[in-house]
Formats: sequence, structure tokens, C-alpha cells
Amino acid sequence: MAKEPLRVLVTGAAGQIGYALVPMIARGVMLGPDQPVILLMLDIPPAAEALNGVKMELVDAAFPLLKGVVATTDAVEACTGVNVAVMVGGFPRKEGMERKDVMSKNVSIYKSQASALEKHAAANCKVLVVANPANTNALILKEFAPSIPEKNITCLTRLDHNRALGQISERLNVQVSDVKNVIIWGNHSSTQYPDVNHATVKTPAGEKPVRQLVANDEWLNGEFITTVQQRGAAIIKARKLSSALSAASSACDHIRDWVLGTPEGTWVSMGVYSDGSYNVPAGLVYSFPVTCKNGEWSIVQGLSIDEFSRKKLDLTAQELSEEKALAYSCLS
Ligand code: NAD
Ligand code: LMR
Repeated sequence: MAKEPLRVLVTGAAGQIGYALVPMIARGVMLGPDQPVILLMLDIPPAAEALNGVKMELVDAAFPLLKGVVATTDAVEACTGVNVAVMVGGFPRKEGMERKDVMSKNVSIYKSQASALEKHAAANCKVLVVANPANTNALILKEFAPSIPEKNITCLTRLDHNRALGQISERLNVQVSDVKNVIIWGNHSSTQYPDVNHATVKTPAGEKPVRQLVANDEWLNGEFITTVQQRGAAIIKARKLSSALSAASSACDHIRDWVLGTPEGTWVSMGVYSDGSYNVPAGLVYSFPVTCKNGEWSIVQGLSIDEFSRKKLDLTAQELSEEKALAYSCLS
């Protein structure tokens, strides 16, 4: 029997990630090739005409799984009955703006969209925040949508996870699909810690540790980490625009694995509400290694953390605590 359509919200849908993301969702990349979807696209009034153009293109593409498209600037209309919410809309940093100014704009956007989701989304709606500062926007959303379970509010660090897989695959000249179990710890920012200490590569002789195959700790503890940390900035430098196709594709990976499950023996990185695992302060949205089953994520427990890693886990937690304090100061 055909499945009932799921309602998927994309905010900031007239922007560049939105433009890459909505056709992926309509093709089944996010929720599976047998899952019909209704797309609800939200943007702000200055982008209404462009948003309507995206809607026209979605109709023109005649996606078999796409059972409806709503293009709106009304948050209530966009949030009504949504099962999955992908929050891409936000206020970008502009020349001359201080960090606090950007934070203050985004805090007020995420506060009001949290209320719309809380009142109008379907029960058990899953939320993925992409817009920067992604971890802290997700935290604010959680704060102002208290009836949405905190486990349902996450942020995107899967792009960083995929970037780390890509760097290892290039270095070893192996298929990216044969590399697994890298970890992104912490913030989606340049303090994130891409960790390969538990990562492996599938070889004809079985799974081998990445550290053994790369056999160059200086690269793994140095250039590899900074390349992943700085990849977003490198793309902005090259494209004069921030990453869009990779962000959209990684957002699909995040939701797909969350809803449909991670393969046996594989974990992925997700920004989730910390419960204090690995001595990360509870109450931050922090990227952890997780496995997913039956629509629920769980933090992978019991991984060894050496002294080098410990410092890096703490440094990115410290930055998130500072962001949290700044965000709360914008609320008062
Ligand atoms: P963009 O500027 O092209 O698009 C953003 C869209 O959001 C615009 O259409 C804008 O009108 C809309 N918008 C602004 N305020 C809104 C509101 N209150 N409600 C709904 N829509 C609103 O930007 P982009 O390149 O698509 O990037 C979007 C965000 O994603 C940025 O914050 C970017 O920094 C972030 N990003 C995150 C990751 C990640 O891995 N977490 C990766 C890449 C980009
Ligand atoms: C990215 O990781 O590509 C983006 O978050 C960079 C940015 O600042 O938009």
C-alpha cells in the first residue's frame, strides 16, 4: 500500500541551500524512494517572488513523489502539520556587523519560529537546524518550543563528518564509502574537533584503523583537522558563496539516517542536546557520534578519549558555552 505523504518544512527555501535541497527531498533522497512528500517552503517577504519561482520549477520537474508544494511567507501556514522541519533560513553576517548583532537577529528568528513549530507542527516532528550559528540556533529553538521533545531538535554537523570522510578517502585513495566512523565533536565552527581515532577503512584484508593506514600522525593531528575545520571558509573563498550542494546533501543524509537508521556497526555525527556524555556539559547542543534506530538517535558510549582529544572536546564546548551566554544575553 502507498505510504501517506510526510510534510517537510524548509525555511529559507528561496536561498541557495534551499534551491539545492528541495529537489533532493522531492526525489526521495531524504526520506526514501517510496515516501511521498508535501513540501512547505517558508521565506521572508523580500524573497516571496523568488520563492514562487522555486515552486514553479518544482511543479515543472514533475517529481512523482511530490504530492503538494506550499510557498509562503506565513510561518503558521508553513509549520502546520509538519513531520520534518529543516531550518535553513537565517540572517547572514553582513559587513560591519558584530557577532552579537548576528546572534541577536537569529535568536529572535529562532524564538518566533520555535513558537510556530510548537503550536502547529505534528506531534513528534523532527527538527534539523542548518542556519548558523547552527548549534546555538537549535538551542534557542529548543528553549522556545518546550513541548517538542529535546531529542527531536538537532543541528547539522553531518557536512563536517562527510568532509572528514572525503579528506581520508582522498589521502588514502580509497572509496569514500569504505571509510567510516570518523567523529565530529562540538560546534559547527572552526573549533569543531574532527577525530579519526576510531575510524576504519574497509580493505580486502578486512577493516583497518585509519591511523594505521595513514601512518602519519603529524598530518592526522594537524593539517587534516584544520582542513576540515576551515573547509566552509575555503569554499566561501573559492565560490564567493557558502557551501550549498554539500550542505543540502548532508542535510538529507542527516534526516535519512535519523528516520531510517544507521547501518550496523556505523555511526554518524549529529548536533544533539548534551546529556553530559563524555563530560560535555549538559544543556549544550553539541556534535556527538550517534547511531540511529526506529527514528531515535543514541550517543555512542564508551569510546576512549586521549589527552589530545580531551583538550579539543573541551575547547569546542567552551566556545558553545560562550555562544549560549551571548544568545541568552540577546533575549534579555
Ligand atoms: P542564503 O542567504 O542563500 O539563504 C538564506 C535564506 O533564508 C534567504 O532566502 C533568506 O531570505 C531566508 N531567510 C532569512 N530570514 C528568514 C526568516 N526569518 N524566515 C525564513 N527565511 C528567512 O543562505 P544559504 O547559503 O542558503 O545558507 C543558509 C544558512 O545555512 C546560513 O546561515 C549558512 O551560514 C548556513 N550553513 C550551514 C551549514 C552547516 O553545515 N550547518 C553549511 C552551510 C551553510
Ligand atoms: C559551511 O560549513 O560551509 C558553512 O557553515 C560556512 C558558513 O559560514 O556559512
